[in-house]
Amino acid sequence: MDGRPATEYASWQKLQKIYDEQHASLTLKDLFAQDASSGSRFETFSRLYQSPSSGEQDKILLDYSKNLITPEIWSTLLKLAEEAKVPEFRDAMFKGEHINTSEGRAVLHVALRNVFPQAGGQFDIKEEGADEVKEVLDHMKQFSDAVRSGEWKGYTGKSITDVVNIGIGGSDLGPVMVTEALKPYSKRDLKMHFVSNVDGSDIAEVLKECDAERTLFIVASKTFTTQETMTNAESARDWFLSSAKDKEHVAKHFVALSTNTSAVTSFGISSSNMFKFWDWVGGRYSLWSAIGLSIALSIGYENFEQLLLGAHEMDRHFKETKLEDNLPVILALVGIWYNDFYGAQTQALLPYDQYLHKFADYFQQGDMESNGKSVTKAGDVVGYQTGPIIWGQSGTNGQHAFYQLIHQGTKLIPCDFLAPVETQNKIGNHHSILLSNFFAQPEALAFGKTEEQVIEELGPEQAKNDALVKSKIFAGNKPTNSIMFQKLTPKTLGSLIALYEHKIHVQGAIWGINSYDQMGVELGKVLAKNILAQLGDADKVKGHDSSTTGLIHFFQKNRK
Ligand code: F6P
Repeated sequence: MDGRPATEYASWQKLQKIYDEQHASLTLKDLFAQDASSGSRFETFSRLYQSPSSGEQDKILLDYSKNLITPEIWSTLLKLAEEAKVPEFRDAMFKGEHINTSEGRAVLHVALRNVFPQAGGQFDIKEEGADEVKEVLDHMKQFSDAVRSGEWKGYTGKSITDVVNIGIGGSDLGPVMVTEALKPYSKRDLKMHFVSNVDGSDIAEVLKECDAERTLFIVASKTFTTQETMTNAESARDWFLSSAKDKEHVAKHFVALSTNTSAVTSFGISSSNMFKFWDWVGGRYSLWSAIGLSIALSIGYENFEQLLLGAHEMDRHFKETKLEDNLPVILALVGIWYNDFYGAQTQALLPYDQYLHKFADYFQQGDMESNGKSVTKAGDVVGYQTGPIIWGQSGTNGQHAFYQLIHQGTKLIPCDFLAPVETQNKIGNHHSILLSNFFAQPEALAFGKTEEQVIEELGPEQAKNDALVKSKIFAGNKPTNSIMFQKLTPKTLGSLIALYEHKIHVQGAIWGINSYDQMGVELGKVLAKNILAQLGDADKVKGHDSSTTGLIHFFQKNRK
């Protein structure tokens, strides 16, 4: 909580000792073979989460039995969470204490979904702005209803058919991921577009599909100063005005999502078309705030509210469940075991649900911008690994791309497999085929294929080819979590996102780092501004190394 180095905890030291003594002989095969004497490993190492309000429909099963953990390792990991004061740190966040110490801010994405008095009561959060959340949600409801119903008209009296969200990082990835995930709930005749890259090709391609009379632009930026977003927003306004001519019409076609009222109004967007949020909402935790307006427009406010409810219910689970049954804590501890003791560098997220195809991209920012830190909150350089590299894509596409390396490569890659029991699209046998792959891959990763099995399969003649035999052996022993949920409803998606958000929080607490600032993004931004001022004139290119100077000169000489 106070930035104590993780290596100081007695349980950390014990885990290191266990790892040193046992890891060479620890196999999933043996651990599962011990089942017969100690009861089912699945029973011991799986937990079922039920939504308190909809139970069956929105349940989530976490099976973490295919991990290289014994009861001793597991109890020591749980002890580590206690020693690192995970419950206290969690409660401090929920109370609104300023746990983002470097920026002196509270971290209150949980306040954004703390709007359901009927769902077991609300958390008592006393932070400026926390009591305005409902008001902004009401504004979002009123606006999204008006646009979706066609009541909101553009400058020529026509209804809106296209929405362009302009934002980057947390002001883009959350809305993109969720609108993709919840496409089955979307209004199909309201097309959603997302522009994030400052590369003009991004906005150019989107604008080719839009009609100025029927397009609504959402400028999404917490700070309203981000170079990419402001550049794209200005180009969008120029494009719009080249048709609409009169600046008065901007009011019907541009809204802003921001904490920065003065920058919004000086851009020309009226404050009545601004949806505000607060500095205690981190960019990568902001899809629950006004930043979610494009989500509400796509799936409707009622479904957006279900998303919030699902997250709120996971918040309650995280806040009120003992550590050993607490899903975010379990995921965090499993991750720490591989990241810090086995030396695993990465963590793959592999959803077997096409609608979740942006899930890994989303948590790439969520996790890596949060826990990609190397200094503790107390300012000490950490002597251990912190946040993993997050990557992945939807199954089964990944199987035909990178699974080879996970199965037989030289790197240990812990994987989370996610899948719905029910599909959104019942077509022939597709879902059974998909799920058979979802079940098969973790099994193959865990138990592999022995030399004896390979020889038997090949038959006596081919088995003489030793190199062939060796190439077909799967060592196995590759750890995975399997997460099954009933169906990808708005509420379940809300719970899944909150589950991973809190996992990140728990890991950050144990590593003693500040998961809620992002100082590492700043240096590149500053240098780019400086270079931009020099690009127009070769004589102005000063103060760089020979490589950077050479590259800039090459560009200046060859541009057309
Ligand atoms: O990448 C840095 C960052 O500050 C993110 O944390 C944030 O999500 C993104 O830039 C966009 O910031 P803003 O919403 O202020 O435009």
